[in-house]
Amino acid sequence: MMKSVDVLNLDHVSKSFPATGQGGEPIQILEDVSLSIQRATSTAITGQSGSGKSTLLQISAGLLSADTGNIKFEGKDLPGMNDEQRSRLRSRSMGFIFQNSLLLDDFTALENVKISAMIAQSSEHVALKKALDMLKLVGLGDRLDHKSDQLSGGERQRVAIARALVNEPSVIFADEPTGSLDEHNAQLVEDLLFSLVEDREVALMLITHNLNFAGRCNLIYRLHNRHVEVRS
Ligand SMILES: Nc1ncnc2c1ncn2[C@@H]1O[C@H](COP(=O)(O)OP(=O)(O)OP(=O)(O)O)[C@@H](O)[C@H]1O
Ligand SMILES: [Mg+2]
Repeated sequence: MMKSVDVLNLDHVSKSFPATGQGGEPIQILEDVSLSIQRATSTAITGQSGSGKSTLLQISAGLLSADTGNIKFEGKDLPGMNDEQRSRLRSRSMGFIFQNSLLLDDFTALENVKISAMIAQSSEHVALKKALDMLKLVGLGDRLDHKSDQLSGGERQRVAIARALVNEPSVIFADEPTGSLDEHNAQLVEDLLFSLVEDREVALMLITHNLNFAGRCNLIYRLHNRHVEVRS
């Protein structure tokens, strides 16, 4: 059996936000949260609106700092890095998909994906080849030259997935990736994400309110009252 490999490790992470407005109290969002995300494994994060799921994802990706606790990405201490090291790590090793992923408006599907590869320091012709391969993989080989406003919502989301994957990240952070899609496109995106976990051995951290979607994951965590628990 393949040894499981932790891509991401959160150890006793706590996070509060300062008070907003006058006389408000700081709000504690996460307390003592420990979890790990493994290669070739899908992990769902569920929980009510406001329970801290997106906060947890942003902390995991080094986009937001925790108050206390350790966060290791591929064994490296995320909070200990400077901004430049963190953003380099993000562009090379992390892929992001959000509910309404934004594409660059004036650019075609192909350019949107290619630019992401170039930011991670691929040469232009390598970036072009990678972008083409990825767009074909997500079924958009015949929409390469369409600009953002010439694509359907589902197609835009698949471009966003191609863009998230073009640098072969070790983890995909997906925050409600099917939240604004119709059933058919949601199913396409769902299937695509799980096939990537299987075929490319990426780790998927998936936030979703959809319990069927979460149910397809290898592991489900639920955030509740500032803590995480494993759902069986
Ligand atoms: N910058 C901030 N300052 C103050 N409070 C914040 C800030 N960001 C988030 N919060 C609060 O933290 C809580 C958790 O927010 P978060 O976005 O993580 O929730 P969520 O579980 O992703 O919810 P949803 O399912 O609605 O997306 C919310 O109550 C929110 O109001
Ligand atoms: Mg959220």
